[in-house]
Amino acid sequence: MFHKNLKPFPNDFFWGASTSAYQVEGAWNEDGKGLSVMDMGKHPEDVTDFKVTSDHYHNYKEDIALFAEMGFKAYRFSIAWTRIIPNGTGEINPKGIEFYNNLINELIKYKIEPIVTMYHFDLPYELQKKGGWGNRETVEAFANYSKVLFENFGDRVKYWLTINEQNMMILHGSALGLVSNDSANPMKDLYQSNHHMLLAQAKAMKLCHEMFPNAKIGPAPNISTVYPASSKPEDITASQNWNAIRNWLYLDMAVYGRYNNIAWSYLEEKNALPDISEGDMEILASGKPDFIAFNYYSTATVEASIIGEKAGNSVGDQQIVIGDEGVYKGASNPNLQKTEFGWEIDPIGFRNTLRDIYERYALPLIVTENGLGAFDKIEEDGTIKDDYRIDFIRKHLEQAQLAITDGVKLFGYCPWSAIDLVSTHQGCSKRYGFIYVNREEFDLKDLKRIRKNSFFWYKKLIATNGNEM
Ligand code: BG6
Repeated sequence: MFHKNLKPFPNDFFWGASTSAYQVEGAWNEDGKGLSVMDMGKHPEDVTDFKVTSDHYHNYKEDIALFAEMGFKAYRFSIAWTRIIPNGTGEINPKGIEFYNNLINELIKYKIEPIVTMYHFDLPYELQKKGGWGNRETVEAFANYSKVLFENFGDRVKYWLTINEQNMMILHGSALGLVSNDSANPMKDLYQSNHHMLLAQAKAMKLCHEMFPNAKIGPAPNISTVYPASSKPEDITASQNWNAIRNWLYLDMAVYGRYNNIAWSYLEEKNALPDISEGDMEILASGKPDFIAFNYYSTATVEASIIGEKAGNSVGDQQIVIGDEGVYKGASNPNLQKTEFGWEIDPIGFRNTLRDIYERYALPLIVTENGLGAFDKIEEDGTIKDDYRIDFIRKHLEQAQLAITDGVKLFGYCPWSAIDLVSTHQGCSKRYGFIYVNREEFDLKDLKRIRKNSFFWYKKLIATNGNEM
């Protein structure tokens, strides 16, 4: 650290936290909601219990009152496309509009800024049946959905996020079922889907600015600095490869409206270039983000992959680095400790990532996810001693402050998650929240909300604008 004097967090900093619709709301088949791919997904536990999640749909007032008690300045949540337009296209569901109007108004009542993700993994199942993102018609469906959102909520929502973790959806697309099993060229299909998502995002950003010139909109990928496993030049090349394929492909397009050259040449080599229709590049260039939102859990480490040798997967990074022969090979980082779920913990990597993104794009940044998944337990006295979570967040915020001192324009921190919810990969006993939800994997119990130790700690931190960590 070379700073003797730290710059403070800005006075109007968005202290808050995040959730996503399918992970927190429940009410998956109520009030006219259509089915999403997440509702249809295979989950390890009883399907109905899983879908109740934290039942925020029926408890949003109580939950928001708790967010207000913590002093949140912002709350990042997602809107379920299928609540608004049950089939993805066509009829609008008034009950869905009503729910989000109520939610947004409740936030505004407490002066909590709504930061809205338009789409967080839960594509309408009706669109999936027609080919999902592989079908170009989904681009128009998304653009139309975004218009409905702006029309209904744009008078109050000033911060929009387009697509959550598009890069993770593509990099893990085969596992997530984004490509059909009988595809002749699954990788090309994936990057065709990616191209369509990029078009959809650009259209939404353009439309947002046309309809609400004062609103702000940005992408929300998962970005992490990529370390080379050693100072060997070929490891540096491998880290540049993975950086381009994992990170810059998505942000270069969102910000500059062009394909990253390393990622493009990689796709060319793999015979996986997307088909680009006439006018696409103009559409892509016309979408301009006002800021970059990103999720950060850990860094990634890679080394050179020798042609002829199988490039294995590394388990250090949250979103496992899938090795690619001759391009990069995932490596674990011996300098980092891991969570009980095996994810590497790298607060300094957080600062490195903030620097990398800001230096490259010079746009204001907001962190829309960062956090620690753990098996929290209620003690006999009814408290939840998640001091490990406090430690994790504190260390990351110390690094965020260093990044601010480095000159990075960071305007908000919304860790994952505001309240316990169902984890994407590991069910609901992997908890992230400041607020405990009293349920177990197979037993819904009373879903009572209980303040964890981290709740009180975060409340104090916000009250002192980050001075008392
Ligand atoms: C991010 C997602 O990838 O990671 C969230 O945006 C997800 O939806 C979070 O929950 C943590 O992952 P997990 O598998 O521990 O829930």
